[in-house]
Amino acid sequence: MNLFDVYPLFDIAIDRGKGCKVWDETGQEYLDLYGGHAVISIGHCHPHYIDMMTRQLNKLGFYSNSVINPLQQQLAQRLGKACGYEDYSLFLVNSGAEANENAMKLASFYNGRTRILSLEKAFHGRTSLAVEVTNNPKIIAPINDNGHVTYLPLNDLNAWRTEIEKGDVCACIIECIQGVGGIRMVNKEFMQGLRQLCDETNTILICDEIQCGYGRSGKFFAHQHLNIKPDLITVAKGIGNGFPMSGLLISPKFKAVYGQLGTTFGGNHLACTAALAVLDVMEDEQLVENARIVGEYLIERLKEEQLPHVLDTRGVGLMIGVELDMPYKEIRTRLVKEQHCFTGCSGTNVIRLLPPLCLTKADADDFIQRFKNVLL
Ligand SMILES: Cc1ncc(COP(=O)(O)O)c(C=O)c1O
Repeated sequence: MNLFDVYPLFDIAIDRGKGCKVWDETGQEYLDLYGGHAVISIGHCHPHYIDMMTRQLNKLGFYSNSVINPLQQQLAQRLGKACGYEDYSLFLVNSGAEANENAMKLASFYNGRTRILSLEKAFHGRTSLAVEVTNNPKIIAPINDNGHVTYLPLNDLNAWRTEIEKGDVCACIIECIQGVGGIRMVNKEFMQGLRQLCDETNTILICDEIQCGYGRSGKFFAHQHLNIKPDLITVAKGIGNGFPMSGLLISPKFKAVYGQLGTTFGGNHLACTAALAVLDVMEDEQLVENARIVGEYLIERLKEEQLPHVLDTRGVGLMIGVELDMPYKEIRTRLVKEQHCFTGCSGTNVIRLLPPLCLTKADADDFIQRFKNVLL
C-alpha cells in the first residue's frame, strides 16, 4: 500500500530532537523555528516529559471515559489556574478541528441557531463545520458547503454588527492572531465591540487559540492581550507537545448535559499526562514569559536588520510573520536545504515562525544569521 499523497514533502526524515533542534537520519542538525507546526511548546524530548510519559505508559496508557480519570481532574485544575479561567469547565478531545466542531455544536445547543460568522482568511480545521468556517474554498468539499457561514473582514466592526444585529447568528469564531491567514492580528477595539454585540444578542463568542494560544503570544491566550473573555476557547497543538490532544474551555453559562458531547480517546491517561508534563515545564521554565521576551527580541532584531526582500515583520511573542516581496517558496526551501533551518509559511509570501517556546536569544540570533545568508 502507498500513502495517500496529499502532502508536498521536503525530502527529509526527521529522526530525533532536543529542545529547539532536530536531526535527520543522516545526523544533520536543523534549527527548528517551525515547532512541527506550532505543536512543540516545551521543546523536543524534554526529560521531564519523557519521564512522566514513560512512567504513565508503564502504569496505564488508556482507559475509557466511562470511569473516573483523576488525571483529567488534575489537568482541569492546573490549566484553569495557569490560564486564569478557574471558573470554566474543560472538555477534552483529540485534534484542533474536533475542538472547534464541539465548540460550535455547544454554541448551537445553547441558543438553537445555525449561523456562524468567521473571519476572512480564517483557518479552523478540515472536518465538517470546522472546514466550513475555514475561508478556503479549495478544501471545502460540496458536502461541507452547507451555507452556515458568512466570512467577514478583519477588524471591521460595522460589517460584523450588521450581521449580528439580524439576530440569527449562533456564534462568532475568531483566531485573535491568524496563523494560516498570515499573522494578521485582531485589534482591541474590534474584539471589545464584538464581545458587547455578542452579549446583547445572546451570540456565542469562540476564540480559536489552537495556534496562537498556550503561551505562544507571550500571554497564556492571545485574546488576553485584548481584555475580553470568550464564551468558549479551543486549544490543541502545544497542549500535549506532540501528543495528539485538544480541549474546549467552557464558560459557566453552559450547563453540561449527559451524553451531549463525547469521545472515545479524548482525555485519555497518556494524553492528560502529556498535558500535565507540559504545564509543569511551562511553569518551571517560565515559558510564557520567555515567549514574550525572546519574541520581542526576535521581532525587534528582524526589523533592525532591514533585510532585503522583507516588506513587513509582524506578530506577538513567538508567533511571527515575515512578509516578503517574493514567494516564500525559494527562501523557505533554501533555509532548509542550505541553512538547515525549518520555518513555516502562510499564503504565498509570508515566512511564519512558530518555534518551541523555549527558544533562546542565542537561537534567535542564530536564525537571523541563517535568514540573512539566504536573503543577502
Ligand atoms: C487556528 C487553527 N485552528 C484549527 C486547526 C486545526 O487543528 P488540527 O489540525 O489539529 O485539526 C489549526 C491547525 O493548523 C489551526 O492553526
